Amino acid sequence: MSSSIQRQWTETLPDPLPANPLIIAAQWLAQARADVAQPNPNAMVLATVDGRGYPSARVVLCKEIDTLPGCIVFYTNYRSRKGRELEANRRAAVVFHWDNRRRQVRAEGQVEMLSDAENDDYFRTRPWQSRLGAWASEQSQPVESRQALAVAVTATARRFGIPYEGPGTAEPDDVAVDVPRPPHWGGYRLCADAVELWVEGEFRIHDRALWTRTLTGRPGAGRDAPWSVTRLQP
Ligand SMILES: Cc1cc2nc3c(=O)[nH]c(=O)nc-3n(C[C@H](O)[C@H](O)[C@H](O)COP(=O)(O)O)c2cc1C
Repeated sequence: MSSSIQRQWTETLPDPLPANPLIIAAQWLAQARADVAQPNPNAMVLATVDGRGYPSARVVLCKEIDTLPGCIVFYTNYRSRKGRELEANRRAAVVFHWDNRRRQVRAEGQVEMLSDAENDDYFRTRPWQSRLGAWASEQSQPVESRQALAVAVTATARRFGIPYEGPGTAEPDDVAVDVPRPPHWGGYRLCADAVELWVEGEFRIHDRALWTRTLTGRPGAGRDAPWSVTRLQP
């Protein structure tokens, strides 16, 4: 990349640094959506740790950045590998990267499961195909073949009375059947106690700032705790 192009992108973090980093993170997410530069601007890497202390990471979609109290929401199968790891260790970390904007957001904290009512509300907004998939797929478990998975989808459709023969076959136009949420499918709220905002700088002199706060006690407690912020060397 020529240095003239690179200069166009020289951005720094606001000065003075704001009290709540998640307000900027939410603005950056909104801008990434508006850019339409990547198919999933709300994709973030989620890192978890298993009972042995071994880390693992995968992409999930962020459904909400709740700036006050400062939580990040995503949905998954509670019995998946990440679900089992989060049960053993509630600490998790996420990273967003918007390459076209030269921006990164890192957040760390403890997760809590969303309530049944919150999970039901969100599940209802999903297309029926995704709702069937949530029943048909035992996420992260071995499967014999693609065909076995297709059979599972077809069987699930039948179980709910949906006239659908599975992937690759015609989909009914209108599905009136309400496919309920599987009890093992739902969301997590990562309540952040550390957030780092990063913007690319010229000649690798990036701008970074780290916000931290102490969240203690039962889930949800102290979520209004104030943040302290420090600029970091790149
Ligand atoms: C762009 C993208 C978005 C994804 N969104 C989700 C998601 O929101 N929830 C989810 O459970 N898996 C999502 N996945 C799949 C995960 O990366 C992963 O394969 C799956 O959750 C199983 O991970 P686990 O075995 O570590 O639990 C997404 C993958 C990609 C590439």
